Amino acid sequence: MRPEESHIVRLKDYRPSDFLIDRVELDVRLDPRATRVTATLSLRPNPKGRPDAPLVLDGDELVLKGLSLDGRALPAGEFEAGPQALTISQPPRQPFTLTVETEIDPTANTKLMGLYRSGGNYCTQCEADGFRRITYFLDRPDVLSVYTTRIEADRDEAPVLLGNGNPVERGAVAGTNRHYAVWHDPYPKPSYLFALVGGRLGHVGKTFVTMSGRPVRLKVYVEPGKEDRAGYALDALERSMRWDEKVFGREYDLDEFNIVAVSDFNMGAMENKGLNIFNDKYVLASPETATDADYANIEAIIAHEYFHNWSGNRVTCRDWFQLCLKEGLTVFRDQEFSSDERSRPVHRIAEVKTLRARQFPEDASPLAHPVRPQQYREINNFYTATVYEKGAEIVRMLKTLIGDEDFRRGMDLYFERCDGTAATVEDFLDAFATVTGRDLGHFARWYAQAGTPRVTVGGTYDAAAQTYRLDFAQSTPPTPGQPQKEPMAIPVRLGLVARDGTALPARSERVSPQGVFLFDKAQDSLVFTGVTSPPVPSLFRDFSAPVRTSLDLTDEDLLVLLRHDTDAFNRWQAGQTVAMRLLVALATGAAAPDGNFDALAQALRDFVIRDAERDPAFAALVLTLPGESDVAQEIGADVDPDAIHRARRELRRIVATVCRDALADIYDRFAETGPYSPDAASAGRRALRNVCLDLLAAADAGLGERMASAQFEAASNMTDRLAALGVLTTLPGAAREDALAAFGERYAGEPLVLDKWFTLQASIQEDGTLQRIRSLMEHPAFSIGNPNRVRSLVGSFAMLNPTQFNRPDGQGYDFVADVVLRVDPLNPQVAARLLTAFATWRIMEEGRRNRACEALRRIAENASLSRDVADIVHRSLE
Ligand code: PHE
Ligand code: ZN
Repeated sequence: MRPEESHIVRLKDYRPSDFLIDRVELDVRLDPRATRVTATLSLRPNPKGRPDAPLVLDGDELVLKGLSLDGRALPAGEFEAGPQALTISQPPRQPFTLTVETEIDPTANTKLMGLYRSGGNYCTQCEADGFRRITYFLDRPDVLSVYTTRIEADRDEAPVLLGNGNPVERGAVAGTNRHYAVWHDPYPKPSYLFALVGGRLGHVGKTFVTMSGRPVRLKVYVEPGKEDRAGYALDALERSMRWDEKVFGREYDLDEFNIVAVSDFNMGAMENKGLNIFNDKYVLASPETATDADYANIEAIIAHEYFHNWSGNRVTCRDWFQLCLKEGLTVFRDQEFSSDERSRPVHRIAEVKTLRARQFPEDASPLAHPVRPQQYREINNFYTATVYEKGAEIVRMLKTLIGDEDFRRGMDLYFERCDGTAATVEDFLDAFATVTGRDLGHFARWYAQAGTPRVTVGGTYDAAAQTYRLDFAQSTPPTPGQPQKEPMAIPVRLGLVARDGTALPARSERVSPQGVFLFDKAQDSLVFTGVTSPPVPSLFRDFSAPVRTSLDLTDEDLLVLLRHDTDAFNRWQAGQTVAMRLLVALATGAAAPDGNFDALAQALRDFVIRDAERDPAFAALVLTLPGESDVAQEIGADVDPDAIHRARRELRRIVATVCRDALADIYDRFAETGPYSPDAASAGRRALRNVCLDLLAAADAGLGERMASAQFEAASNMTDRLAALGVLTTLPGAAREDALAAFGERYAGEPLVLDKWFTLQASIQEDGTLQRIRSLMEHPAFSIGNPNRVRSLVGSFAMLNPTQFNRPDGQGYDFVADVVLRVDPLNPQVAARLLTAFATWRIMEEGRRNRACEALRRIAENASLSRDVADIVHRSLE
């Protein structure tokens, strides 16, 4: 499909639905190939709609089996039914009941949208527009209905039957081997939050008592036999519920809260009301099968989906342009939760690393879009790092600007005003404008303007006057559809540090008591008085705004910050900035003073000796140099990934050689003793020790191989075993191949563990990797229909292997393009997501750029592309 032929949805065209559906009664008779769905809809004209509009219900691949209106079967001439819509041209102008019967085939559903089967079980996915694959409906988020669902199934096939809301009834179907359950959800919700599950499932559970004393039964359902891997998810759920009560005053509102883990899922997890459905990767964990990172992800995603109960479900979105209203806000909430449960600065650095690795490249690519897009062709392509991660940064900036107390008051007002409604970004900002009396009009530009602002800052010290002046300038690059940009409202949290490391007072009436300067013009200057010695400015503390910066600080100044800044984020950032300068110089052949390599390496050695013990997780981050794709982004044009790869290897070698003794010392002292615990402190010690191992291997490959092999053999948990295997994969030879084979055999029955094994092999930056991946695609554990498998083998190659994906001969691009075309007919969402790996193609040097462009064109020329893939490929080429 050519883009101009396909339908574009625009924010400015929003109009309320012509009809509303107050109540939905669903009767779902589960059957592997022919599931019958009877929907009884209580409809009425919307007073805000058009008075004589036809009723048009959405459908997708539906087959109509029966239709009656107020109990009367509708004659053929009074309606029109196709796979995509059910239209009644002359519907009643007062409330009426429509009974719609459809038949669907869950086994044939490879898109994993609507009702489908996973591991023999039945489950649903309705966001964003999957409900229309179950029955004809007004499938839009501003139509809120109260649902009652009767689910019927074979007892053996589906002993467990789950729905939204509270269970009201269950029983046998007389004279058959079937049974049923009825669920009622008293909270009006949009169709995208509907869910049901039927299958053979084990569970773990406990009772949670809410802050007002109501008991809630919590259950986590998993594949039978895996119950012992569900405990951490249950624990994380309980902690999330307690935290939302304490920090946001939000209480849970049903008698039950169920989580179901499924092994075929397009995304991470889904916040269906009272019945969250999860990719099992974000539920199942045991020390033998999950890494510390897995545990942290599980905790964050469990929290995220739970927090949606208020930010998303009780207050939902008016239309899909408002997606950030629930996603950005909920990411912000889960980040705050993780920060409270773990180390705040360490978590902040992790958040920023993700933002820079995923959102900044997107914002600089042909796929760039505002946090609230103005238009889309396929909404599934807008579940992006921009909507989620940049959306969360906007909420954080708002809090930085108005302060903690007003932020909480604004959130309370937002929930109070908008409870039970489908809201907009304006409703959200209005609540904060009301509690603060501030005009947030300028701030709102963050939702509308795409692209990452670049802020340039220069400092001038006047010794005689004892003043220090900072000159700020900002600009935002053009993005698709937005050639010209306005200045943004940028909160700059800052401080001054003396060269001996002491904090200097930063006196200026333009800096708030919390140390924040609001930079909201194209250019501005800030003068500090009473500055008694030449300072080093510490800017954007705690990463106070999602911008790129150019600071006129010397490497020497930055190393002062690395040693002394009171802001942990900027201590880390200072080291990263110096390392980035050196990496860019090495990769582009520009001259970097030799002494600066040594200065960085020695500063890091001092840091390891002095500080590593105190906060190992933080130390692990300081010792990790910027990634290859970060360097590519920084260079920004005519990128040669091989040169970057060599540069990073070289800098690692230099740093590791200077730090060698200190690293070896930490490695020995931090050896694991006692049983595994996933807590943040223990995870931090493992992280640091494994970074030391990795660097030691960079200094001395032979030593690295011996140490990594020994750790691989002796490891008592997956974190250490996988880290050792990761180091081995960078060292070609028999030890690596033996370890890979041993790992593959040991975890043969563990798909989620084999995913890690796929990912490691796909990430090997060597010529033979494509061949390796091709043979792994024939491995019995691989399946082209399972999103986790495709992502861990092919997605990792495209996203984590810059030199091989961007091979100068174009084979990496061709391979990924072939997989995209193969997956597209099965699962367009997964294919489209894979294709976004091409988004950075324009920053490559000419040869690679041409190859990538050819591969994209070859995809574009395909006649039968899904809308998902067509949208991404055409925007990528624009
Ligand atoms: N709403 C889910 C979340 O962020 C993500 C999701 C979107 C899942 C679409 C499935 C389909 O929590
Ligand atoms: Zn979400």
